[in-house]
Amino acid sequence: MPAVADIEVREAVPADLPEIAAVALATGQDEEWGGADPAYMTHLLAHGRVVVGVAGGSVAGFGATRPLGSGPDAVSMLCDLFVHPEVHGSGCGRAMLAALWPGTRGHRMTFSSLHAHALPLYTSFGLDAWWPLLYLRGRVDALAAPAGWQAAAASPASVAAAELSWTGVDRSADHQAWARRPGGAGVLAVRDGEVMAAGTVGGAGDEFGVTHLAVTPAADDVRAAAAVLAVLAGLAPEDGVARVCLPAPHPAVRPLLAAGWRAGEFDLFMATEPGLLDPCRAVPSPALA
Ligand SMILES: CC(C)(COP(=O)(O)OP(=O)(O)OC[C@H]1O[C@@H](n2cnc3c(N)ncnc32)[C@H](O)[C@@H]1OP(=O)(O)O)[C@@H](O)C(=O)NCCC(=O)NCCS
Repeated sequence: MPAVADIEVREAVPADLPEIAAVALATGQDEEWGGADPAYMTHLLAHGRVVVGVAGGSVAGFGATRPLGSGPDAVSMLCDLFVHPEVHGSGCGRAMLAALWPGTRGHRMTFSSLHAHALPLYTSFGLDAWWPLLYLRGRVDALAAPAGWQAAAASPASVAAAELSWTGVDRSADHQAWARRPGGAGVLAVRDGEVMAAGTVGGAGDEFGVTHLAVTPAADDVRAAAAVLAVLAGLAPEDGVARVCLPAPHPAVRPLLAAGWRAGEFDLFMATEPGLLDPCRAVPSPALA
């Protein structure tokens, strides 16, 4: 595919959402809370940065970042980078990423797809691949909350307050948006009366499950796994099946696989430094971390 000579990259505006959705659908992103979902894109327009690559007068691709945290420790999360298949390999992805991530400074991360163009592109922006993010699915009735643990409903504000106290990062806007998804709700994992983890669950159809779960830094491996199991065991999906995205080294992966859960696909955590997410603790949203 020859380079498209005149790709213009500009900030996206709400009027671009139908063309952004068309690119998302052309690349197979047809799920809720993806580029074809106005609620998702509106959240990114409000709290992140969205650009479009325009070629021949129409939107050929889109990309989005979301800043996490503030000050020198702030991390730029690349949430989306999608180019219409007809122009893959013609420089549109690189042009959009250069606009989103100018220069070489700053903490950057993403969950890269296994598309052949993705890893080389992100590597050239200073990111390395560190671990797989497994998309695990299984029956919630195959799980039980460990002894002494239970899941409890909570408001998005109290979930975000717990996460802020543990990480120093304010994710309240994300928890509010995640809680507005189909089946969305805040949840706490409580052990003997003590809050050990806080997160949001929800999502449509196959995506229903844990969206994001923060764990107290006081949790050891056993407790980090128990928190995930307690939250999953407390879900009530219509078809009995739920999803959670876990770093492959996370201590909950082995008990979930042993309970018959399966890892159907995976992305690659790519980051300028491996410590931007702890693979033994993080339960991140694939889009927003
Ligand atoms: C990944 C994606 C966004 C990259 O955008 P793109 O416009 O296709 O990529 P570019 O033309 O800018 O090329 C980016 C890099 O990919 C690599 N690449 C491009 N064409 C390639 C080919 N034919 N074979 C192997 N690698 C190739 C090169 O490293 C290239 O950089 P360089 O040519 O400057 O060295 C796009 O291919 C895409 O939408 N893929 C499907 C959806 C997806 O998986 N998105 C990633 C989500 S994390």
